[in-house]
Amino acid sequence: MKKILLYGIFIFLSFQLIQIDKENPSVDKKIDYNRVTYASPEIQKILKKACYDCHSNEVNYPWYSSIAPISWFIKEHVNQGKEYVNFSEYGKYNRYQKEHINSSLYRVIENKTMPLNSYLWMHKDANLSEKDYILLLNWFRTQCSIKN
Ligand code: HEC
Repeated sequence: MKKILLYGIFIFLSFQLIQIDKENPSVDKKIDYNRVTYASPEIQKILKKACYDCHSNEVNYPWYSSIAPISWFIKEHVNQGKEYVNFSEYGKYNRYQKEHINSSLYRVIENKTMPLNSYLWMHKDANLSEKDYILLLNWFRTQCSIKN
């Protein structure tokens, strides 16, 4: 029994050797989603509190993101999230990518699949109110019809 516990501790400690990279790439505000789309301050506030931790180059890593294997899980979400949409680099997408992203944005809010549930357990303030959902939904709908 004691042996198993010791093995467990050893494995946990060896996990800690593999740390994630928490450096954010540099941010160019000129190509940020909010600047490019002229999003209202209200919309910006919602996106920053509920989406930017996985979909931007302004990720705030919480203290527990230093503990493996939680850290790996968080990093994987950030990597994946940014692959789908990176709000900090929105200005770099071409017209077709923007169109695709805008319809996805509308869909995830309509279906309430974002923010991810696992994120909300630890970020109560990112829980969107009914009003937030409606604001976002209307905003993303108007974005879908803009061909930029
Ligand atoms: C905890 C991290 C996290 C947060 C916070 C988060 N996302 Fe995501 N998002 C992901 C991951 C991971 C994926 C890719 C895998 C998936 O769809 O589950 C994703 C995928 C997406 C996609 C692409 C979906 C598709 O099927 O094409 C959109 C659009 C999106 N997120 C929008 C948002 C918006 C808007 C918010 C804020 C309201 C948000 N996300 C908050 C992690 C996150």
